[in-house]
Amino acid sequence: NWSMDDFIDLQIQSIRETVGDRKVLLGLSGGVDSSVVGVLLHKAIGNQLTSIFVDHGLLRKGEADQVMASLKGKFGLNVVQVNAQERFLSKLAGVSDPEQKRKIIGKEFIEVFNDEAQKLDGIDFLAQGTLYTDVIESGTDTAQTIKSHHNVGGLPDDMHFQLIEPLRSLFKDEARELGEKLGMPSDLVWRQPFPGPGLGIRVLGEITPEKLEIVRDSDLILREEIKKAGLDRDIWQYFTVLPGIRSVGVMGDSRTYDYTVGIRAVTSIDGMTADFAHIPWEVLSDISVRIVNEVKHVNRIVYDVTSKPPSTVEWE
Ligand code: XMP
Repeated sequence: NWSMDDFIDLQIQSIRETVGDRKVLLGLSGGVDSSVVGVLLHKAIGNQLTSIFVDHGLLRKGEADQVMASLKGKFGLNVVQVNAQERFLSKLAGVSDPEQKRKIIGKEFIEVFNDEAQKLDGIDFLAQGTLYTDVIESGTDTAQTIKSHHNVGGLPDDMHFQLIEPLRSLFKDEARELGEKLGMPSDLVWRQPFPGPGLGIRVLGEITPEKLEIVRDSDLILREEIKKAGLDRDIWQYFTVLPGIRSVGVMGDSRTYDYTVGIRAVTSIDGMTADFAHIPWEVLSDISVRIVNEVKHVNRIVYDVTSKPPSTVEWE
């Protein structure tokens, strides 16, 4: 009879046998999957694991600190944090095409990761948080590329690592269960999916530090209010986007001409199809009031009421 405890024991045993006294490298994204792999591997092989966490400057508010505090601070993982914000932003300056933005972020990510990996000696294995759904999705060669996901494949040929993918047989909910069994805090385990290109595809068109700040600040308010309303586990993903349009409004006695913020919230099982979340009007109203009051240069909030298909979850 299959249980998560057995799974953990078997994985730890198998990882130890495979790795022996050699070294493993892991790219931490801050997401659930790679974090769970990190904690599992650390349990199995301790400091033979080195993790690299690239901060591309497109993370949510407080995310980098939270990841470091938990994985390095609490669980004692050996994490190298790379602050590559400038590098990414300068490469993205002036670029507004969604696919081009994705490609730049993906390429840059691999380069930064490589630069750091090359500073480390004698690494034999690369660990990844690949899930069963990733295996299926990337395995169908008939599947059309709707958007280029940057975290599947893409490692250069000259990196001769053997892959370790302990979550390959698990679904997302099982990866979360595994995380909980490993004693990880629920705010990490129940974190909503976050795309590799991060806020870079939630600021539509050209990315600027000012626009990133609007998305970051409004997103934090949205997360707080969704949590306060007790909806955070029912909604698959919820976030704000900045379409880049400005419209006329009135604040106090004066006319404003400021940005519109879009709210996207969906229910889904696996992200492949999704329905817009039926958030109560009162909750939407609270979110709207807070964002307009607390985030500078925002005077209008819209709610995205399209499903996937025909829309996608992300706006780019
Ligand atoms: P879409 O927008 O394609 O998103 O409906 C489906 C799910 O995938 C996430 N997503 C990504 N995840 N790298 C990722 O790891 C990416 O490049 C990427 N693009 C979209 C999206 O957040 C949603 O959960």
